[in-house]
Amino acid sequence: MIPELESTPSPPSPLSGRDCLTLAEFTREETRLILDEATRLKGLQRSRIPFRPLRGRTLAMVFQKPSNRTRVSFEVGMYQLGGHALHLLPQEIQIGKRETPSDTGRVLARYIDAIMVRTFDHEELEELAGAAEVPVINGLTDQHHPCQALADLLTAREGFGTLEGLEVSYIGDGNNVAHSLAIACALTGVRLTIAHPEGHGPDLGIMELADASGAAPTLTEDPREAASGARVVYTDVWASMGQESEAEERKKKFAPYQVNDELMALAADDAIFLHCLPAHRGEEVTADVIDGPASRVFDQAENRLHAQKALLYLLLS
Ligand code: CP
Ligand code: NVA
Repeated sequence: MIPELESTPSPPSPLSGRDCLTLAEFTREETRLILDEATRLKGLQRSRIPFRPLRGRTLAMVFQKPSNRTRVSFEVGMYQLGGHALHLLPQEIQIGKRETPSDTGRVLARYIDAIMVRTFDHEELEELAGAAEVPVINGLTDQHHPCQALADLLTAREGFGTLEGLEVSYIGDGNNVAHSLAIACALTGVRLTIAHPEGHGPDLGIMELADASGAAPTLTEDPREAASGARVVYTDVWASMGQESEAEERKKKFAPYQVNDELMALAADDAIFLHCLPAHRGEEVTADVIDGPASRVFDQAENRLHAQKALLYLLLS
């Protein structure tokens, strides 16, 4: 029988009790710590070495939008760390409808050791987190998706060994995924370019947050310029959850931003393709690219598990 590892961190985690709402709350060193811990926990999991520091601890997962990766990776991650996760459906909590977000946060904190929230309005998450006396993790809002960005960085680091100076191009909508990628890249010395259609650029206030974390990304409306020489080419859906009514109109506007073989040919010879998933083949990316040799999207999806386990462990230790 394989012995369990010592569960108590020594010294205690510098992230103990903190929230993860945007990633901008972390320093460069803290971001690196999360990624290093993710790599360590991935190794343990691959070797089937049990590591259960969160025995008896419970995570509430509040979902106001659908999910595959976020829901499953958080639940499995808590289980692998020895804890338990509670999946709360939209019709149960109803953030801001049955009671205020702050009352929801205060009450959950009386039962639960950490709260993960996926919702629409980022301010609702901030209100809930401000009132909850336990760590709160953003599982996606309209403005941010920090757990995704941690998995993105982990995947890029696995591909190239280092993040410092790496050239990453995000091509498409300046949405929650682009915002969190910008902050994550700023924190790790990655040089990010975002190519977006006119009127669909990232929120400039959030780009200032990225600037304060290290460096703002370069913005352009030219996807070819962005892809040229990139080591990582990244895209996301053209219409995010909550924007379904705009999907048809967006298809026309975003068509020149499709990541296809022609665009990938402009990238570096060893370039990899990333997508947070779910993907729409034939829209933001062709099947040839997402199912082709440069694609790392399923490693990226797996890395949600390892990155979030590291986050849970560090926030709860
Ligand atoms: N990438 C991501 O967050 O996927 P889900 O919406 O399935 O959780
Ligand atoms: N931008 C997408 C990401 C899904 C993981 C959305 O918000 O729907």
